[in-house]
Amino acid sequence: MKKFYVIGNPVDHSLSPKLHNYWFKKNNIKAVYNIKKINELDIKKVVSEMKDGKIDGINVTVPFKKSIIPFLDELTPIANEARSVNTIYNKDNIIIGDNTDVSGFEHGLNHIDYNVTGKKIFILGAGGVAPSIILALKKMSASKIILSNRTKEKAEDMKKIYPYIELADWGDIKPFDMIINATSVGLKVEDELKLNFGQSGSNKLFYDVIYNPKKTKFLLQGKKLGSQTENGKKMFAYQAQLAFETWHGIKPSVDERVLQLLEND
Ligand code: ATR
Repeated sequence: MKKFYVIGNPVDHSLSPKLHNYWFKKNNIKAVYNIKKINELDIKKVVSEMKDGKIDGINVTVPFKKSIIPFLDELTPIANEARSVNTIYNKDNIIIGDNTDVSGFEHGLNHIDYNVTGKKIFILGAGGVAPSIILALKKMSASKIILSNRTKEKAEDMKKIYPYIELADWGDIKPFDMIINATSVGLKVEDELKLNFGQSGSNKLFYDVIYNPKKTKFLLQGKKLGSQTENGKKMFAYQAQLAFETWHGIKPSVDERVLQLLEND
């Protein structure tokens, strides 16, 4: 029986086991996918278990997407560019770190027929997920990518790596077609970004990477302003789809049944 894990901390709320185990059943794959809560010191051991063939594949979530990199043998070009690994596989005993978040973000937008080409995109937050979003937006030919982070130095560091982005001071909301919450604010229902989007106009897209809770205060604010809203559920489903395909050579479907499965209980 093949074994797969999502490693992180906290990781209890991850929906990856639910989704991958559903797809195993659907595709008659004899494998099991579980959660593994670890701390920084366990990373080395987990990777060596992959090398020994005790683990067949790993998804990585917060806060290890970057810190796991030195323990891996190789990175795929996209993982290297994003400096972020969320999927690990073993190819001929070489442990390879990959990133399927970039593709997940792109396919999530395709799913709702949102075309980024020529659009101005405003990103809030310069944490772990921001580089994957920046790379996806660049690939999809956004005309402008503006990044704003509470701690300005982190946004400045990001501009050193992705010089084509523009920076905005925290609280200075520049004109946009789509605004993305890539901060961790909203994970708790009562969390609120104390920002004023009043000048942004209507018919924009408010996109939150967070999918649990389903509607963050940020999305509710967007809705109130007459804009379209979207949470990170589809991005999550599509990053899982690509990880699954990488491990099993089968592309599972992301359909209504799957999206329903990911609804919060
Ligand atoms: P990390 O910074 O370790 O990568 P993360 O969860 O990936 O962690 O990122 C958290 C993001 O949410 C950061 O952009 C963080 O901003 P800071 O760099 O200023 O810390 C942002 N964030 C968290 N709490 C916030 C708050 N109350 N207001 C605004 N931004 C916040």
